[in-house]
Amino acid sequence: MATTRRLTGFKPTGHLHLGNLLGALRPLIAAQDHTESIAMIADLHAMTMEHDPQRLRALALETATVMLAAGVDPARTPIILQSQIPEHTELHYLLECVTGFGEASRMIQFKEKSAAGGPIRLSLLTYPVLMAADILLYDIDQVPVGEDQNQHLELTRTLATRFNARYGDTFRVPAGVRPEAAARIMDLADPTVKMGKSNAAGAGRIGLLDPPEVVRRTVARAVTDEFAQVRRHPDQPGVTNLIDILAECTGQQPSDPVSYGALKRDVTDAIESLLAPIRARHAELAEDPAYVREILAKGAAAVRPIAMATCSAARDAIGLLQ
Ligand code: ADP
Ligand code: TRP
Repeated sequence: MATTRRLTGFKPTGHLHLGNLLGALRPLIAAQDHTESIAMIADLHAMTMEHDPQRLRALALETATVMLAAGVDPARTPIILQSQIPEHTELHYLLECVTGFGEASRMIQFKEKSAAGGPIRLSLLTYPVLMAADILLYDIDQVPVGEDQNQHLELTRTLATRFNARYGDTFRVPAGVRPEAAARIMDLADPTVKMGKSNAAGAGRIGLLDPPEVVRRTVARAVTDEFAQVRRHPDQPGVTNLIDILAECTGQQPSDPVSYGALKRDVTDAIESLLAPIRARHAELAEDPAYVREILAKGAAAVRPIAMATCSAARDAIGLLQ
């Protein structure tokens, strides 16, 4: 049987954090032996909201550098920058021609983000169609996505099936997969929301490049409760999150009973042993940005033939003169 092909996407809208590592990067690295994975930096998606050009460029490079530092092996897992492979935008357009306006405007993320006020970019509306293009270009079998992306993946499947039915079998219809572990690392300052790149202030986020004293301070200030009981419980989201982080980092449940102070010390140590090697490797790689850019160029060269073949088949099927 052919190897399963997976695509994991990261939006360079901020610095990669512990949630990205435990929920996406580590599973990607662990799957390198038994899947054909592609790691994509979705820089075009980072322009669907207000953005700063300098920062976008810097974050795209930083995201690639951190992926390498964390152990993504570019010989087995191409690391690609979405904007460097023009077939993404070409297929995006072809797929727009099988997408309804109503269908796109019903996407929950569009409704939420556009309701927030301020000018709304047209690209925010069409963003899930670009995501569909990202996936369909590479004959992907599995897309590991968090819950917030389920609807977009469902749209991808709908568009693929519709296109195939109207214009002939062109796309492989992908499946979503739940990331096995650590599906949701919560914010340490507000454990009712997931740790995210753009959470306000970032007081509860652990960046993968944060220095040790920042990690220690962030964990020390993590919200707990007055129950003084170290247990996983819905009434204790902060403590539950710390226990989950510890378990994810060490592969073990904490030996109970321990105090909140001891729990936080253990969590700090566990995170630190995970981040120290990434930080060190990142410092080396950051000295040589040309090397990282070359990895991106090689990644693009490795996957481009697949993208070109899919695009050509789609152009032909939809009625463009070849
Ligand atoms: P963010 O939400 O921080 O902007 P992305 O949307 O770029 O992150 O997601 C990149 C990957 O990281 C996705 O696979 C997503 O499911 C995973 N991920 C993001 N935040 C978390 C979290 N708090 N816990 C677990 N996984 C997460
Ligand atoms: N939309 C995804 C997010 O916000 C990022 C993404 C873009 C993606 N293209 C993708 C994820 C393709 C998986 C596959 O997190």
